[in-house]
Amino acid sequence: MELRRQHLIDPVVCIRCNTCQEACPVDAITHDSNNYVVSFEKCSGCRACVSPCPTGAIDNWLLVDRPWTLDEQLGWEELPESHPSHGATIVETPAEVSDLMDAATTATGGKVPPPPSAAQPFTNVYSREAPVTARVAGNMRITAEGTESDIHHVVLDFQANAFPVLEGQSIGIIPPGLDAKGRPHNIRLYSVASPREGERSGYNNLALTVKRVAGGVGSNYVCDLKKDDEVLVAGPFGDAFLMPDDPEAHIIMICTGTGSAPFRAFTERRRRAHAEAPGKLMLFFGARSPGELPYFGPLMKLPKTLIDVNLAFSRVPDQPKRYVQDKLRDRAADLAPLLPDAKTHIYICGLKGMEQGCDEAFADICRLNGLDWASLRATLRREGRYHVETY
Ligand code: A2P
Repeated sequence: MELRRQHLIDPVVCIRCNTCQEACPVDAITHDSNNYVVSFEKCSGCRACVSPCPTGAIDNWLLVDRPWTLDEQLGWEELPESHPSHGATIVETPAEVSDLMDAATTATGGKVPPPPSAAQPFTNVYSREAPVTARVAGNMRITAEGTESDIHHVVLDFQANAFPVLEGQSIGIIPPGLDAKGRPHNIRLYSVASPREGERSGYNNLALTVKRVAGGVGSNYVCDLKKDDEVLVAGPFGDAFLMPDDPEAHIIMICTGTGSAPFRAFTERRRRAHAEAPGKLMLFFGARSPGELPYFGPLMKLPKTLIDVNLAFSRVPDQPKRYVQDKLRDRAADLAPLLPDAKTHIYICGLKGMEQGCDEAFADICRLNGLDWASLRATLRREGRYHVETY
């Protein structure tokens, strides 16, 4: 008998956040009001959807004797069993071929693992069907008034309910009401911007960094929240984009806009738990202007001994347009010795376009310093030291 391997989404674990559909470069992922599904014919097995998925629901590669159709998948309440492989010939699909080619992550099934020293995260403690209620403890705009970027710092208090999060994890907010088709809204995902012990130590709370998007249901709901409002929350989500729990770790953080949220969490964790840590923190942060850079004021006040801050502004009148990748190149002399260091971790979070720009900048820095970026990046990924979260 011949079996094939089919990429499928686990409907029980999936939170319908749409991340996979956005990440898929070949439009193989679609959804209806019930499920997110993958077309067997279209999926190239590139795994671009695997890393961004906050729950891991996407990472299922079942053996089948006949591929499940989209209609069948749309009707599922749960994932079927994989076909027993005993005695069967397994036909290589594009997914497997691409898997074999991606030597960087084959050992981990295509997914970049968390840093080995990271603390064990809790995930999916609360779901869309069984959320927890949090109370808004505060909501303030953190970009200059009058600028286009309306970004808010929102603090949620979980009161007596346990909500364990680690730096780098996200939570899901369920906007109230129904969508245009009369269905409950899907979960909106936001990275946590505070460290594990809370925005304020000793309080059962956390912070989010949320940008208002014109017409966006989730972002307008969150940016308009008032103190003491109640919010339905799912999560926490994410088990790979986590901070190394190692004071010797050098952490290179690269972000734009609200992509800074996890790095605020990382920095606060270091500041509170290991302010004198030997590991370096380097931040590369891109925004249109200082007024549009979230947390600009507090960031400028952080001690230079704690963090090396590099800001790239793209729309300051009479100044050249600068992106984070330009700043990486500016700091080539300091980055080159860090890149091959086994204690170095790289995180990229923010606009999708930044990913390629940073990759090229690292390749240039390596070329000029006798290093091979392709193999270095493969090692970093395999060892859980290279994490990308872009949208
Ligand atoms: P730009 O002025 O060209 O849009 P935003 O404010 O839209 O969230 O963007 C945050 C920052 O990221 C802006 O400075 C924006 O510049 C910049 N940016 C846009 N595209 C890229 C890219 N491909 N690589 C790096 N930075 C980018």
